[in-house]
Amino acid sequence: MRIIKAKDYKDMSRKAANIISAQVIVKPNCVLGLATGSTPIGTYEQLVEWYQKGDLDFSKVTSVNLDEYKGLTKDNDQSYYYFMNDHLFSKVNINKDNTHLPDGTEPDSDKACADYNKVIESVGGIDLQLLGLGHNGHIGFNEPADEFIPETHCVDLTPSTIEANKRFFASYDDVPKQAYTMGIKTIMLAKSVLVVVSGEDKAAIVRDAFFGSITPKVQASVLQLHPNVTVVADEAALSLVKM
Ligand code: F6R
Repeated sequence: MRIIKAKDYKDMSRKAANIISAQVIVKPNCVLGLATGSTPIGTYEQLVEWYQKGDLDFSKVTSVNLDEYKGLTKDNDQSYYYFMNDHLFSKVNINKDNTHLPDGTEPDSDKACADYNKVIESVGGIDLQLLGLGHNGHIGFNEPADEFIPETHCVDLTPSTIEANKRFFASYDDVPKQAYTMGIKTIMLAKSVLVVVSGEDKAAIVRDAFFGSITPKVQASVLQLHPNVTVVADEAALSLVKM
């Protein structure tokens, strides 16, 4: 595991965008695994800026997103479908047909998950998987548990995740209580993984996930076993770790 210390959120975003850019330049038809949440927003902004300058071409890129809330329509501005269009897909020349997220509008969880597993298989594996880190160590929506679940599944979000995400909704009750998420095996099969983390509120989980025991109680800890992980974290997120 490579840990890159960034000065602050902006620096973290630029460093992460550089790594994604390198992937797109080296392999223009790469498969990017993408994440939502607050942390990668600056990374996407930076990628859009470089695209606008003519430095990046997404025309051959395919993407698969980590997760989607169950029950939100695509035009709901809190759906991850909406988020990805808003922050990236509508701003670069990626072919929308080559962008994929779990279908949150599919009420049949088994079908939604089986369909998404087929999509992931059909794209031929992920070259670079971008991840944020939940306060409870979740990656995607793989919440603390007694096991690692290998493939796409429907999750009951934990109260702490609902609490953390309620800032985007009118109230706690409006936050969807379930989501579809890629599983841990799929993430671990990505050729490379890039984790972005920012802020003092993530310092304890950075320490536990990347320097503590490997346990499904802290799902991100499994990344310690991946051969090619880069964590780009700012000084605040690394404040409890001796580098
Ligand atoms: C988002 C996702 C989540 C977030 C995590 C951190 O697609 O899968 O695991 O990455 O909840 O969220 P932020 O960046 O908002 O702190």
